[in-house]
Formats: sequence, C-alpha cells, structure tokens
Amino acid sequence: MSIIYDAAARTLTLHTRDSSYQMQIGPLGYLLHTYYGRRAEGDLGGLHLPKDVGFSPNPHPLGARRGWSPDTMPQEYSGANAGDFRLSSLKAAAENGAWGADLRYLRHEIRRGAYALEGLPAALDPEDEAETLSVTLEDRALGLEVELLYGVYESRDLITRAARITNTGKGELRLEKAASACLELPFGDWDLIHFQGRHTMERQPERGPLLHGVRSLGSGRVSSSHQENPFVILCDRHATQEGGDCYGLMPVYSGSFAVQIQRDQMDAVRVVTGIRDEDFSWALAPGERFDTPQVLLCFRHDGLNALSRCFHRALREVLCRSRWSRKARPVLLNNWEATYFNFDADKILAIAREAKELGADLFVLDDGWFGHRSDDHSSLGDWFVNEQKLPGGLESLIRGVKALGLQFGLWVEPEMVSEDSELFRAHPDWALSVPGREPSLGRSQLALDLSRPEVTDWIFETVAGLLRRYDIDYIKWDINRSLTDLWSPALPAERQGELAHRCTLGLYRVLDRLTAEFPRVLFEGCAGGGGRFDAGMLAYFPQIWCSDDTDPIERLVIQRGTSYGYPLSCMGAHVSASPNHQTGRTTPLDTRAVVAMAGGFGYELDPGKLSAQEKDRIRAQIRRFKDYEELLREGDYYRLQEEEDPRDWAAWQVVSRERDESLLSLVLTHPRANPAPLHLRFMGLDPQARYELRLELFDAFVPEERPREGVYAGSALLYAGFTLPRMYGDYPSAQIHLKKIAD
Ligand code: GLA
Repeated sequence: MSIIYDAAARTLTLHTRDSSYQMQIGPLGYLLHTYYGRRAEGDLGGLHLPKDVGFSPNPHPLGARRGWSPDTMPQEYSGANAGDFRLSSLKAAAENGAWGADLRYLRHEIRRGAYALEGLPAALDPEDEAETLSVTLEDRALGLEVELLYGVYESRDLITRAARITNTGKGELRLEKAASACLELPFGDWDLIHFQGRHTMERQPERGPLLHGVRSLGSGRVSSSHQENPFVILCDRHATQEGGDCYGLMPVYSGSFAVQIQRDQMDAVRVVTGIRDEDFSWALAPGERFDTPQVLLCFRHDGLNALSRCFHRALREVLCRSRWSRKARPVLLNNWEATYFNFDADKILAIAREAKELGADLFVLDDGWFGHRSDDHSSLGDWFVNEQKLPGGLESLIRGVKALGLQFGLWVEPEMVSEDSELFRAHPDWALSVPGREPSLGRSQLALDLSRPEVTDWIFETVAGLLRRYDIDYIKWDINRSLTDLWSPALPAERQGELAHRCTLGLYRVLDRLTAEFPRVLFEGCAGGGGRFDAGMLAYFPQIWCSDDTDPIERLVIQRGTSYGYPLSCMGAHVSASPNHQTGRTTPLDTRAVVAMAGGFGYELDPGKLSAQEKDRIRAQIRRFKDYEELLREGDYYRLQEEEDPRDWAAWQVVSRERDESLLSLVLTHPRANPAPLHLRFMGLDPQARYELRLELFDAFVPEERPREGVYAGSALLYAGFTLPRMYGDYPSAQIHLKKIAD
C-alpha cells in the first residue's frame, strides 16, 4: 500500500518510491500538512511546534491556549475569513452573505485505482498501479463539503490532486475561489522557476528567489497562454540539473489558471493553484457539486533533470489517452511556411510529391483551404473546401496525396469565427461579446462561445463530418486569439462568472468525443504556436506545435524551457527554410534538423526550392531520425548545462530506459577565434557498460582534431567526459550516438 493511515498518530501518508507526503488530522479537526519531500517514515507532525504569534488568531474552543493558529500552521487546503490570513484555497458565500471557508476533517477513504473528474481530463491508470485517497472536510456553517482527492503512482513519484466541493446545505452557495491544491513548504529557502514568454517566444525559463509577499502567475485568456505556462518548479536555492530538492506543480487545465505563491511572516511558503479566481464564480444549488481541475505533483531530491523525467513519464504514460502517445509518429511536411495562403491544388500536389521523394510520411495542408479564405480576415467557421483554390475539392486532393503513398493531414481552427463567414451571418450570437459593446478582434477574428452545447455540438459535428467524409490521418487543431468580451446570452446574469470555465469544459467535451470516436487520427494542438501548451490539451492530443518561431537557435531556448515539464515526443518541431522567416537568421540545414529532432520531427518548407544536395541531406536526416525515433520518444532526457541561454553552445542528451543507447546533440551558438576546449560529460549512462560511439559533425570543424570513434567505457564518458573538435562558422552542430555493446 502506498497510502497509510496511522490511527494513533492521526496521520495519512502517501509514499512513492522516493518521496513521502503526509497530512495529519490536528486539533479541532484542522487538516494539517506535515511534510512533502524525500521519502521519510513516521509521524512528522512534531516538525510544526505551536507558537504564540501576535496577531495570528486562535480558534475559539482553544480558549487561553494561544500557541495554535491556522495562520501559522501548515494547512492541507486553506480556508478563508476564519483565522488564516495567507492565500486561501476556497472561498464560498451563502445566501445570507456569510463567506469564507472554515474546513474540518470529516472522514477519509483509501481505494485502489485512479479517480475521475466530471468533464475534466485526469490521469488514468493504464498499468493498474494507482491508489486514491479521499479526505472529506466540511464547513458546517456554510453547509459544504470538500473532498480532497489524491492519486498516488508509487513507482513514478507522481501524486495527483483535485478538490470536489459539494453543497450540503439548504440554500444556494456561490463559489468565488475553488483551487485545485494548496501546497505548503514550511521550511527552506526556495527558488521559483516559471516559464514566461510571448508569441514566438514561449516558455522562457526564469529562475529567482522567493521573497516575502505574494507572487501571482497565470493566464486570464481562457487559454493557458504564451505568456505564462501552467507549470512551476520550486527548488532549493542551490539545486542544479543533477542535484537538490525540487517540487513541480502542473495544473491539468487549458483555460484561465493561477499559480499563487506566498512567502509569509514566518518564512513559510504556500502555493495555491487551479482555476484563476479573478474572473470566476460558480453557483452551487443544494446537493450539487463542483470538480476542480487536477494538478500533477512530483518531488525529486536529485535535481531538475530527474524532476522533468517524472513529468515526462506522467504525461506520456498516464495522462495522454491517445494511442499515439506511445507510438512512432509520421514524419510530416506542412505547407504553411512554404506557401502561406498562396496555393492551389497543383502547387500542393507538387510539394507533396517532393515530400514523398524526401522520405516524409504525411503531408499537412495548413490554413487557407476553406470558405473563400485567401488571408486571415475571413471564412473561419466555413469548414467546406474553397473550390477556387482546390477544384475537385478535398476528395480529389486527398486522392492525389494518397496516390503518392503519403498520409494526409488537415489544419482547422474550429473554436473561432470570422465576421466575414456564413457561420457568423447565421449565428452572430455564437461569438463572444458584451451587449452594447463592440467585441475586440484578435487576428481579425472572434471566438465562439463554447459554453453553449449547441456550439460545441456544431464544432464536434463539423470536424467529425470532415473526418467521416474524407480519408484524413492527422488534424492540426489551432486557435489564434485570446478570449475577451466574456458574456453569454445563454447564462443568467448571476452565472456570467462561470463562462470562462464553462468554455474550457466545452472544449474538453468536444475533444473527448472526437478523440474517442476517431482514435486512429493523430491530433496536434496549436495556438498561434505554443499558446495552449499544457497538460489539459496533452490529455487528448499527443503533440502540440511548440512555437511559431522555427528559428533553430531561438528554438534551443524554447524547447529547453518546454523540456522542464514536457517530453520531447509532444513538442512539434520542424525544419524550415533559411534565412528563417521569423528572424532572418541563416543556419545550416543539418543544424535545423538536429534541433527539430528534439521534438515531433517534421518539415515546413517548399522542397521545390532545395538543391539536389540539400534534398540528399534531408533524405539522410529522415533516415537518421527514424533510427533514433523510439529513443527520442521514450528515452530519458537530460539538460547537460545549467545556463538557460548558453553563451557558446547548447547540448542535451537522451538515454534509453535500459541505458543501452543514447544520443547527445550539440549546437554551437557562438563561434570564437580561439575557443576553450569544447568538453562535456555524458549523463545517465551505465558506468559498467561499454559503448560504441559514432560521431556526426555538421559542418565546419577542424579535421585534425576529430576524436576517435569506436568503443568507450561508460565510466569514461560519464566521469572523464569527451572533447569535441574545434567547430567554426555559423551554428554548426554535432550528434554523438552511443550503443551499448555486448560483453
Ligand atoms: C498559427 C499556427 C501556424 C499556422 C497559422 C495558420 O499561427 O501556429 O503554424 O498554422 O496559424 O494561419
């Protein structure tokens, strides 16, 4: 059993292989958080000594015993307006206006299996290993119960959390905040790492000390956003990639979210995360319940790389329900950067023919195939083919692509509508807007109101209709604006605060139905690049387009930032043309491929513009990728450097779970006239094993310095390391492949 109740100590302990999480039913039924960290046994309640702290309130029944306050004791799920001034997890209001939350233990239950959440994605239990703890707290005055749900995946060092709030009273309750989880770190000195950014610069890692006060991160865009990713790490101030205590929190949510972090008067840290409360309220009638999104939690004592690997395995193996999650994906060629909106059937078929000759498996037709769309001002909503561009329709085009021996993929953006569209003319009220106010535009388009079942039914039927009618193997599912002007004619005035969350639930309803009905189809998420790159989407889609910035040097940071939480297998990454369309930078073709192989590999360029020599190199790249595909998809990932934006070179490594194969990739980002030796150490290998080392250098290096290939001891590569020859020119790269040899 990984969940243990000690009746004498009144502790509930969740053990994973290397971590322990403990709560204790404290005085007056307060549920205290006693510990989360490296695996430890016994009653850890003694860590938290009562102390009389001035101006920290005491529960009335404790009378003159002033040493105990909910304001200083670590809480498992914090209340509000009841003596704890720190961040609240729950705020509810009764019909008489009484508000807050004062939560006390009522009962608990331990059961096998994972728990499910109403209308929300949650971790599954494919290997029949999960256990669930449910602890119910109550607030008798308000008439509510909170069921705290914990899923424990012992071998994975993974704990999931969520809260289920039920109105047990006689009147209506209004939830004003309903966090998924509260996590206390009562001792220690912590850095916060979060992943901020903007369009084409997503998930830039930022690390800094947690100072006193509240730090509030999140998104109010009804999508998880380019600006802040729903994933944070708290780590020891001295933690490195390979050492130190690290906690990761990842809300499984694609809408407006918050991660609030507070360092309080006693230097204790509290993290509260879940749906952003600023634009949230929810009415609960007697007997009704509300499920919060899930949060994934991992703790590792041995550094950031180990923490990332826990999340990689969790997303790939227990969260994503797509059968594609663990399967080889086709190498695709997408026409977006090749043509933008400017194409016809002949041009598309010519690109597809070349794609096949290069060795691609799948051709993706991107934006511009529908309605009368020839730029981004019209036709979203009119998901029928533009016969002017594609005479003979999609049928004939798909037939042509399939005749080449390629699979076919299609771009859609079904959550959006253009004002210039038949859909908008028929249903203007389906677009979000506030009565009496012109709604703001984003990329000249409006957003559909996904809280309405008739809208989500229409989206489902429209996309399902395409998938039923045409032989489509892959869908790129995009959104290209943030949601604003939140108001729905379908909700009464007092329920408008539910709209943002209802839109996210509407999205999940559609994705759930589509992925269940079309399990064969490979779906890739997208939101102007990586604007909705989160665990909620990854529960349905095995991959997401990482960024609209395809410049490989920019991608080094974006993909490195993304790798903290997400596996390579879910990061869409393509080789595009040079000079790059976003930055104008020129890079070697092979370096572009080395970087794109650290992701869902594909191409996004016009192969007709390539020389014969470049085409040969691409054929070799695709062959190489296919050799490494399983290793890259399933292997353990290592960031080899501490610096987030390395000055001279960037390197990363993937090692198979059995430690019998590895690929190290390196890109020189800054050539120097007289550089120090380029020396690095491998990670994750078996020190006892011997490996056959193969070195590919792309392109310019000093030939006399070329190191020896052949057999190396694992211990030598791990401890003594490896020195690369001097490389020069703009952005050369290298790949070092290791294969364990039989003894
Ligand atoms: C977004 C996507 C791009 C492309 C365009 C099409 O920006 O991220 O990859 O599909 O839309 O309009």
